[in-house]
Amino acid sequence: MSGTATKVPPAELDAEIARILAVHADREGAMLPILHDIQAAFGHVPETAIPAIAHALNLSRAEVHGVISFYHDFHVEHDPLPVIRLCRAESCQARGVEALAAAFAGETRVRIEPIYCLGLCTVGPNAMIGDAVHARLDTSRFAALVERTVVEQAA
Ligand code: FES
Repeated sequence: MSGTATKVPPAELDAEIARILAVHADREGAMLPILHDIQAAFGHVPETAIPAIAHALNLSRAEVHGVISFYHDFHVEHDPLPVIRLCRAESCQARGVEALAAAFAGETRVRIEPIYCLGLCTVGPNAMIGDAVHARLDTSRFAALVERTVVEQAA
């Protein structure tokens, strides 16, 4: 199942959520892995998945909502904008990420979200798109990255 799916038939959604819950059925601390898998499958954690997650983990719906709203990675609504995670941790700050972030504060074609250390501190500022890390970013390299991301999203 694609992580960018926008409209999934309810039966397909229910079946995929049931499959993900079954994969993690006997796992300690299954909440975050379940949420990550559902987010990867649908691009968000659908509101309709929350009762099933709560039931599987013997939690209240409010507890599941609380975890989803606590972590920036999780969304209950599909977000059509591609996400670029820009490292805002100390080494990237020392290498100019704040100026880079400020230069793109008005960018509306992508969502620029913070992430805190990608483990490549000596080659920052760094960003992550999906699983790919992009290093040594300056204004022109980041602009090119934004353009490429927008074009790939539209394709
Ligand atoms: S501080 Fe940015 S990669 Fe470590």
